[in-house]
Amino acid sequence: MLIKNGTLVTSKGLQKADIYIELGKIREIKKTISNKGAEKTIDATGLHVLPGMIDSHVHLRDFKEVLKEDFFSGTSAALAGGVTSVIDMPNNSLPTISMEALAAKKYVASKKALCNYGFNFGATLNNFEEASKALVDTSVASLKIYMGSSTGSLLVDDFSAFYKHLQNFKGKPILLHAEDEHAIRHFSKQHLGENQKSNGIDSQNSLSDARKSQNMDIDLQADSSKKPISAQVHGKIRNSHVAELAVSRAISSAQKTNAKIHICHVSTQKELELIHAARKKIKITCEVSPHHLFLDESYAKKLGNYAKVNPPLRSKSEIAYLWQALRSGKIDMIATDHAPHLREEKELPYLQAPSGMPELDTALLLFLDAVSKKQLSLPQLANLYSKAPAKLFGLKNKGEIAVGKDADLVLVNLKSKTKIKSENLFTKCHWSAYEGITANGKIMKTILGGKIAFDEGSVLARIGDGTELKFRA
Ligand code: DOR
Ligand code: ZN
Ligand code: ZN
Repeated sequence: MLIKNGTLVTSKGLQKADIYIELGKIREIKKTISNKGAEKTIDATGLHVLPGMIDSHVHLRDFKEVLKEDFFSGTSAALAGGVTSVIDMPNNSLPTISMEALAAKKYVASKKALCNYGFNFGATLNNFEEASKALVDTSVASLKIYMGSSTGSLLVDDFSAFYKHLQNFKGKPILLHAEDEHAIRHFSKQHLGENQKSNGIDSQNSLSDARKSQNMDIDLQADSSKKPISAQVHGKIRNSHVAELAVSRAISSAQKTNAKIHICHVSTQKELELIHAARKKIKITCEVSPHHLFLDESYAKKLGNYAKVNPPLRSKSEIAYLWQALRSGKIDMIATDHAPHLREEKELPYLQAPSGMPELDTALLLFLDAVSKKQLSLPQLANLYSKAPAKLFGLKNKGEIAVGKDADLVLVNLKSKTKIKSENLFTKCHWSAYEGITANGKIMKTILGGKIAFDEGSVLARIGDGTELKFRA
């Protein structure tokens, strides 16, 4: 394949050049490459060529949650959103907490996935042996620990278990959902008052119930029959202190154990200040998710439970700090936290509605729009959403447009616009918190391993085009 006349977004900046691709790899990059019999030539005049995005934080569901998403629909959404590699989170049902579950996921992904895929393995209160096996499995990117409860059944709220996982899991990153469970419980009680009490959600019992529960978003445990509760309370319960406490504890324990930690979906200034100060002492990285940059807390009023997400949407001033941190390098990477739930679940009362929103189809578009508004440069975007995750997880052949790298690319038109409409999304849940937004920018083509995988609105990839990612073992 030959891609002609595009503007390449490389780590050295923008460069007008042609790309010659052979056997799935970038073979040559030069100002002008004559057609040497390539079976396909793409004219990229007026387009920017970026490395394929790598999203290390997606919830692809499948198994008991096929109605929400599966590896086929989720990876279709990825390709439509310029994402060529995804790493699945373990908190779905089937949870990825044993080697047996991992094997089942690998099998299903191999039969359904349209882009490259890998797995984050889930920590439980006692799966240390399984985690040590996962550590040396090349399909596993990391160990994910939920310090606070969220959607799904994973929670490590016991210090001994948390500490032991940090001591044991060495060599690959440990990803943290950093919200402090005890603080969540405390603020739930404070803000839900009688509702909370009427359900007996308190301290020890609720914690162990939560551990046992199969579908545990703590909110699901409550009885909402009393009076409707506004989704706006979510930000008060899971307030910035909840995140700060967990990050602070994680940093202290990482320093003692020498663990390499990665804070998922940072959403507050306090977390970033702690992370920044800790960089001198420990190996620590962090990611931000699109909803924490593009949607402020007022969306909880506009969208109700559709805006319910953990951690919750924050204030405009927190968001301004996040953008500045993103530009100045205080945030290492972008990861979407694509978390599809059905409309009918989101329409339930606040306490029963699950947290999370779909992002894969739309994230790159929103960031292209941010580029058009000068909130970010294209090289910064390529670094944050492709090169940095490739580096953190040790994907040597990905994350950059350079000779020898895998030909995973995305061609975008910054002069064109895209209106976000749910009927155009590939995620099975078919709704978006960004519905109706017109983004400056259009994803024209996604190229996966040297083949056109998405072309102006259509997914062309076939099963088998994407492959299992290989992480350092
Ligand atoms: O809002 C969220 N949804 N946060 C999480 O941590 C999990 C996710 C999900 O799986 O739905
Ligand atoms: Zn999370
Ligand atoms: Zn998540």
